[in-house]
Amino acid sequence: MAANAAISVFAADYGITVPKPTLDLSPKTKHFHRSRALQRYFISWKAIKMTTDALIPTYARLPVHFTKGKGAWLTDKEGKKYLDAMSGIGVCGLGHCHPSVTQAITEQASQLVHTSNLYHIDKQSELAERLCHISGMSRAFFCNSGAEANEAAIKLARLHGHKKGIEVPTVIVMENAFHGRTLATLSATGNRKVQAGFEPLMKGLTRAPYNDVEAINAIIKNNPSIVAILVEPVQGEGGLNIPANDYLNALRGICDEHDCLLMLDEVQTGNGRTGAYFSYQHNKILPDVVTTAKGLGNGFPIGACLVAGKAKELFQPGSHGSTYGGSPLGCATALAVLNTLERDHLVKRAQELGQRIYNSLNNQLAELEQVKEVRHKGLMIGIELTLPCGELVEMALEKGLLINVTAGNVIRLLPPLVLSNTEADELIQKLTTLISTFLLK
Ligand SMILES: Cc1ncc(COP(=O)(O)O)c(C=O)c1O
Repeated sequence: MAANAAISVFAADYGITVPKPTLDLSPKTKHFHRSRALQRYFISWKAIKMTTDALIPTYARLPVHFTKGKGAWLTDKEGKKYLDAMSGIGVCGLGHCHPSVTQAITEQASQLVHTSNLYHIDKQSELAERLCHISGMSRAFFCNSGAEANEAAIKLARLHGHKKGIEVPTVIVMENAFHGRTLATLSATGNRKVQAGFEPLMKGLTRAPYNDVEAINAIIKNNPSIVAILVEPVQGEGGLNIPANDYLNALRGICDEHDCLLMLDEVQTGNGRTGAYFSYQHNKILPDVVTTAKGLGNGFPIGACLVAGKAKELFQPGSHGSTYGGSPLGCATALAVLNTLERDHLVKRAQELGQRIYNSLNNQLAELEQVKEVRHKGLMIGIELTLPCGELVEMALEKGLLINVTAGNVIRLLPPLVLSNTEADELIQKLTTLISTFLLK
């Protein structure tokens, strides 16, 4: 939308009449950039006006209200359609309102929603068995979010350490990691912005550079209190960072040698997203602890912490819990997700589709010198630019495309696993045009 027209539309929404512009705001004029700043001001003003003072403003929201979703598409209040290349931050892997998931939710909701973990829950046992079978892990604990699953992992590490007589059990965590917003998980997160203001951070964590095996070796050799390594197989929030192919294998070896737990945060990478059900399956290893959430419920809040080997017996009755964790409704929903992933071969599809999108983006963006790298693991796709590009998110929104920018200069795509080839081509076409327009500015 031309800058003048955009300003008039946003202002009109709030009953403001903008005088007929006297300036020429075509892209080559000196007033163009000032007008874009004004346009951005209106967008953020509109976003503020779209919410209510009754909400704690923890999110800087984009100026859009969605009312409906189907597959890879969302519809806003005005009926405009958006191609969702973010899947609710990697959550709706089966797309919005998948019929099998909707059916499971409605059927279970009409039978039994919640009983608590004071009693046996058949659907919870069934989900635990299915997840253990798929993952090679031995046992599952259910909760409601990724952060809560990681809290469980960190508590397991401490139990493991105390069992060995270590007074201050210490977990190695990574630079640029993201593990959640609770106090323990924000302490484990390697991003000062997430931590600022919430000090003192939790004790018992030490940080290493990501994808640096030597650094981990050095820390472990010099610190006998190390009891575990907590790491994402691919860093999503941290900038779509993909480590060397054998990184997890090396960490597995180090943990075995030093009797430490290998704890993988697969909150974002799990549930088929990277082209294996869990990303560690690409490496043919088994962690001691794996956490997941996001894609497991396709939008219904459910998280899981799976354990094997040394971590299998650490939690005992009374040592951990969650009122809502593993409810009949949550577990029925997750079982429908697993059934659909399996029935429609969507994990394999994530691998193929990711490769297809990567190949096209890589070819089409190769000429642009500000495009530093396109990278992907299945359907976790990142395009790193040489300059900050947060502005692209709003530009894309205007064009009916939902994307995200992380680490300031990395465009992140987490499209649903059900995306068709035609939708993938539309995504690629829209995005490459946007990137070219943005870089030519
Ligand atoms: C790798 C990873 N771990 C943990 C979390 C936190 O999950 P939640 O927001 O469900 O608490 C996220 C969320 O983005 C994540 O990407």
